[in-house]
Amino acid sequence: MMESLADHQVSVKNTGQTSTKLSVQHLNLSFGNKQVLKNISVEFPEKQVTALIGPSGCGKSTLLRCFNRMHDLYPDCKIEGKVLLDGKDIYSNEVEVTDIRRRVGMVFQKANPFPKSIYDNISYGLKINNLPANRETAQKALEEAFLWDEVKDDLNKPATRLSGGQQQRLCIARTVALRPEVILMDEPCSALDPISTLKIEELIHQLKEQYTIIIVTHNMQQAQRVADKTVFMYLGEIMEEGDTKQIFKNPKNEMTQNYIGGHFG
Ligand SMILES: Nc1ncnc2c1ncn2[C@@H]1O[C@H](COP(=O)(O)OP(=O)(O)OP(=O)(O)O)[C@@H](O)[C@H]1O
Ligand SMILES: [Mg+2]
Repeated sequence: MMESLADHQVSVKNTGQTSTKLSVQHLNLSFGNKQVLKNISVEFPEKQVTALIGPSGCGKSTLLRCFNRMHDLYPDCKIEGKVLLDGKDIYSNEVEVTDIRRRVGMVFQKANPFPKSIYDNISYGLKINNLPANRETAQKALEEAFLWDEVKDDLNKPATRLSGGQQQRLCIARTVALRPEVILMDEPCSALDPISTLKIEELIHQLKEQYTIIIVTHNMQQAQRVADKTVFMYLGEIMEEGDTKQIFKNPKNEMTQNYIGGHFG
């Protein structure tokens, strides 16, 4: 009895503290005449980690890419509905796409450092965004990405000489250097070994003190380890969403149950 009351109080307290950073309202997306996202409405709480899960092709990456307008360059992509960042629609005419890309950073499945030095990988984005690019700002970003100690004597070496896991942390450093508000991660660990994966997960845990994080993952253990909230998608729709513990322990939808139980996908 006491315990459940305590649990209740904790959850009430958490809800009271979190506000919505990003809110999606009735989002429909088609490529040509193929509808890929269907009436998506979902909220992403500030300074929490939300995992997007679901079988291959269900639209996770497509949804993630809507959050920093990555589809702008596809002429046959049609988007309806709203994506609100701090309550303002990122697709409205007054909004500069470059501003959205700085506020909403992205880390990809395969680490993609520029073929330049470790230092240049950080300083490039700082310079084009008119932010101070120097050893201090680079050090801060590398420290935040848990990479500084491993590279501090090699800042002028080519980034491509780093290991895969280090390259991914460099890409995260490059993203946090711009002081984004939201960080999108599309299967950031799928090309990494288990140790590098755990390092990135620890890093995600640290980063959520400052950033709102949305991560796509096929790894159900990873979703449970890193995510506060989990959203299950199927064929372009959200089937179920909720607190990660609830989704994994007590899914309401039979499809969610089958998916997380490994029965399809
Ligand atoms: N640029 C595009 N043009 C046409 N169709 C596309 C485009 N990008 C994605 N699609 C289609 O949209 C659907 C959803 O793709 P998406 O990449 O979002 O899936 P996903 O859930 O991320 O899958 P996975 O887990 O395999 O990465 C797929 O049917 C895909 O073929
Ligand atoms: Mg994908």
